[in-house]
Order: sequence, then C-alpha cells, then structure tokens
Amino acid sequence: MSNHQHAVALPVVVLISGNGSNLQAIIDAVQHDDLPVEIRAVISSRPDAYGLERARAANISTEVVDHRAFNNRAEYEDELQTSIDQHQPALIVLAGYMRILGNAFVNHYQGRMLNIHPSLLPAFPGLNTHQRALDANVAKHGASIHFVTNELDGGPVILQSSVPLLPNDDAQSLAKRVYRQEHQIYPLAIRWFAEGRLSTTAGNVHFDQKPLTHPIQYSDIR
Ligand code: GAR
Repeated sequence: MSNHQHAVALPVVVLISGNGSNLQAIIDAVQHDDLPVEIRAVISSRPDAYGLERARAANISTEVVDHRAFNNRAEYEDELQTSIDQHQPALIVLAGYMRILGNAFVNHYQGRMLNIHPSLLPAFPGLNTHQRALDANVAKHGASIHFVTNELDGGPVILQSSVPLLPNDDAQSLAKRVYRQEHQIYPLAIRWFAEGRLSTTAGNVHFDQKPLTHPIQYSDIR
C-alpha cells in the first residue's frame, strides 16, 4: 500500500448487523488504495455478525453493542454513540446495519452518516425490497446511497445503480445482481465524501459545491 499519496485518511466507523459484504467491499477498496479512509472500528449490533470476522481478518478493531443488553432504545443509542465517538470519526457508514435509529442519535451525526439501501429510493423503503420489487413488477430495481436523516430510508439520495428485472428472477437472484452494484457504489460515494466533494444541507445533497437535483446514476459515470 502506498498511503503516502493521501495527505490525510478520513477517520471512519462502520456499523453492521450481518454478513458485511459491503464492509468487505470498503475494506478491499482501502487496501487497493482506492479509498482514502481509515476504518477505525467496526461496530455490530449483533454478536454473531459475520462482518466482525471480516473486520478482524483486516486487523480492524471490533465492538459489539447489542441492543438486547439495554432497557430501552435511548440507553442503547447512548452507549452506541459513546462507542462510536471514542474513535472520533468524521464519517459514520451504515453497512447493513439493521436497527432503526432515533432522532437524537441521527441528529448527532447530521451530515456525516451514510446508508446503503437495496432499492431505488424513494421506492421500497424498509425490508424485503427485492421481493417487493418483483411483486410490483417494476422495470428496474437497484441500490441507493443516501445521507441519513430522521426519516427512515428517506434521507437525500447521492448515488444509485440500477439493474433490470429478468424473466426468471426470484428474490435471491435479484438480490445477487443488486449486491454487485452495492459493492461498487458504496466505496465510490465514501471516496467522494473523503475527498470533500459531498455535503448535505436542508435535505439536499451538494456535489462539487453544486446542489444535486437528481441522484447520480452510476451508469452515467462508470
Ligand atoms: C445490503 O443489501 C444492504 O443494502 C441492506 O442490507 C444488506 C447488508 O448486506 N441494508 C438495508 O436493508 C438497510 N435498510 P451486507 O451485510 O452483506 O453488507
């Protein structure tokens, strides 16, 4: 690795709940020198998340903040915030983190928390997006990167990548195709943030100092 190319690596904390394939894509991009960030910690909401093993294999420090160990959401989120802030991240990356976050927590990281969601938002917020896309018989489906706001899966969208629905698709085959897009667009959006090209105010995204009127489509730039 030739880190000397990058003046300063952006300190990042990644939150996960499961497999961590998006985390792996981010780790790989850092290791290939495509992403000027330092992953200071990976924090999981579940002790059995496979993503924790991926982090350990990359020598990244890991923590588990298990919501089941707390009396209520406020106490859980206080502890989570304390754990995150110990690492002084400039960016919080939600990568398959499957808990809904409260307003106080979200406000604390206003403008510096990204999420990936497996649909072309605003279509299909919430769960089971692939099956819902099939049931709705949409022409295309995909993934979105957005800034996190108090509205669930409702923050301003930065970047999207779409895939066609194919005749014999089931939720699994469609998910697989979407995952390939996720693993490309998340490292890219994080790089833009690290390079200072992305910001958000008043529910809008600014890219290179200009307001984005529509999400960037990955097919337009790759
Ligand atoms: C990804 O498909 C991600 O977009 C989705 O969970 C999966 C996590 O996979 N996130 C959400 O649905 C958030 N609402 P991973 O653990 O392999 O990265």
